[in-house]
Amino acid sequence: MNEQVTVTDTPVKPVKALPNAQTVTAVTHWTDSLFSFRVTRPASFRFRSGEFVMIGLMGDNGKPLLRAYSIASPSWDEELEFYSIKVQDGPLTSKLQHIKVGDELILRPKPVGTLVHDALLPGKRVYFFATGTGFAPFASLIRDPETYEKFDEIILTHTCREVAELEYGRQLVESLEADPLIGEMIEGKLKYYPTTTREESPVMGRVTDHLKSGEIFERLGIPPLDPATDRAMVCGSMGLNKDITEILEAAGLREGANSEPKEFVVEKAFVG
Ligand code: A2P
Repeated sequence: MNEQVTVTDTPVKPVKALPNAQTVTAVTHWTDSLFSFRVTRPASFRFRSGEFVMIGLMGDNGKPLLRAYSIASPSWDEELEFYSIKVQDGPLTSKLQHIKVGDELILRPKPVGTLVHDALLPGKRVYFFATGTGFAPFASLIRDPETYEKFDEIILTHTCREVAELEYGRQLVESLEADPLIGEMIEGKLKYYPTTTREESPVMGRVTDHLKSGEIFERLGIPPLDPATDRAMVCGSMGLNKDITEILEAAGLREGANSEPKEFVVEKAFVG
């Protein structure tokens, strides 16, 4: 019997099966150092809005290169969204920033995290304090109906160095008003408080300074922090987390956890 040999000009790409591979469906570059992307979501992948998960690519040594990323999409979304910095010499983000629609990345199956509704006692008002990419878990939580069922008022603060770094969050907040699911729920409840520290914008300065001076309460027309009514979630740099924790504790709020819900919870913004 003759063996049939087919010759083509196209070199055959080696197929390396990625473990837990998902396909990239969208990529948006916001600045030279910030981008967001969406990937397919396995039917079995469940998470609570605000949680993070390990994602990544196959490293040059053939081993998975994974980092913790907050899931920026809400739990009802058919896909998963992530918001990332680009670090030029970062082991993962130096590569991840070049992903394109159709590429695959690794998604580990077990999401975890402290910025979840279960970790907070019921209250009247919730503060979401973010700096930089620490906005990601709140991008999920502000799209979750539970946030609006649980609280009368949601104060979303985002402090960045420059105006362009606020854009992902600003566009998301704007788009929510037109969202069929969330639009009606958020009306009058969601108060967005963006500030910049190194470029001129309508509201300037660190949110921590605005809390200390009372400027944020004045601008939003709300009373100062009160442990009887106010809850908070914090996600940013180590410095922000430490400074906000001090401010919240001085106001009488206590740090909680999944197993022991209290008045506030903290998570560091992960560097991809
Ligand atoms: P600043 O420009 O005054 O340092 P970074 O890019 O360094 O992660 O910072 C992101 C944003 O978070 C910046 O606007 C920065 O302000 C602000 N920031 C950094 N540390 C703190 C802190 N301890 N408290 C409040 N805001 C902070």
